[in-house]
Amino acid sequence: MATDTVVAEDAGGAGAETAEELRRLFLLDEDVVFLNHGSFGATPRPVFEAYQAWQREMERQPVAFLQRRSDDLLDAARAELGRFLNAAGDDLVFVPNATTGLNVFARSLRLEAGDEVLTTDHEYGALNLTWEHVCAKVGARYVHQPIPLPVTTPEALADAFWEGVTPRTRVVFLSHITSPTALTFPVAEICRRAREAGILSVVDGAHVPGQRPLDLAADGADVYAGNCHKWLCAPKGSAFLHVRPEHHEYVEATTVSWGWGEGGLRFGSEVPRSRFVRRNQWQGTRDLAAFLAVPNAIAFQEEHRWEAVRARCQALARQARERIGALTGLPPISPDGPIGATDDPWFAQMVAVPIPPVDAATVHRRLYDEFQVEVPLTGHDGQQMVRVSVQGYNTAADIDRLLEGLAALLPRC
Ligand SMILES: Cc1ncc(COP(=O)(O)O)c(C=O)c1O
Repeated sequence: MATDTVVAEDAGGAGAETAEELRRLFLLDEDVVFLNHGSFGATPRPVFEAYQAWQREMERQPVAFLQRRSDDLLDAARAELGRFLNAAGDDLVFVPNATTGLNVFARSLRLEAGDEVLTTDHEYGALNLTWEHVCAKVGARYVHQPIPLPVTTPEALADAFWEGVTPRTRVVFLSHITSPTALTFPVAEICRRAREAGILSVVDGAHVPGQRPLDLAADGADVYAGNCHKWLCAPKGSAFLHVRPEHHEYVEATTVSWGWGEGGLRFGSEVPRSRFVRRNQWQGTRDLAAFLAVPNAIAFQEEHRWEAVRARCQALARQARERIGALTGLPPISPDGPIGATDDPWFAQMVAVPIPPVDAATVHRRLYDEFQVEVPLTGHDGQQMVRVSVQGYNTAADIDRLLEGLAALLPRC
């Protein structure tokens, strides 16, 4: 416990609450060592209560809420999210998750036979399926460019990726923070190259909002989708799709509804909104509470000095990586040092660390059953890994328990 306080001060976090104090604000089961924030996030009590308050507000007067108030409430929530992401509210829509956001865009694209969508071999499986589906329908190709491990420098990574570009490349699609390997890819540089080459850039930022500062104006992707329910700790079912204005015209929506009519959104609101927002904001009757609670999640992190919390988590993730490396004797998948000109290392609050060949399903199950540790095992190109997520509520004792479990199970499974 004392270690956590020291780490916080080292990381410039003096005055921020300790992990134990933050843990009390979350609804997580106290008996579980929760090192998998990355899969679905977790929501602190004040944000969850705000979410439920929105639901109660809707039930109090459903017609007034959904017919007369919802567009203005959503506009305000989008504006606040836009402030957080440095993006114009008219270029942003709420979607239930990053998968849906990227589907909205991928399925709006008019690819042609022979076109290529270039991606990496570190992408999230469901989105590989999305792009394979979209490409297969028209005879386009979804091309995986290998990014070998360990990564070395952002320039080398961008060069390795760019080797996959051909005259037929219409789209580049990649994660900002990858799912199996938890690496931060140099998307600003890749988007810059894509723009110069006249290629569309689409970024999967599912793990970024709340984990790394995000500046959508500077990062330069044509299209960027991010989750609020992961690292921003907003309720499940809150995410966004950001599309630059030059692409609004052809972006459709998963559901064709009132926003496709002439009069703007649903009930003739006078407020001008982009065509992209009009088409996507009203998707039939649905629960809007998770979207409306996004500003509450932003406020929660700002009030609880999340910059300092993030730095403390990053330090703990680094310790986890070092300790697992010392246990297995396997080298890390990235340097520890800064990526490029920034002070950021290749990983932030989530780190993937190699482990020797094991029966992954058994190790995963026994870590939970015998050590109460919730942590995913991932892999890349035959290398198995444990992916450790560190959120504000995690302590050094959580990492101790993981190490205890790994030390016991890796040699035996
Ligand atoms: C890189 C990446 N993209 C997309 C997703 C999908 O997120 P969601 O299920 O919220 O759409 C995940 C989920 O973990 C992910 O890791």
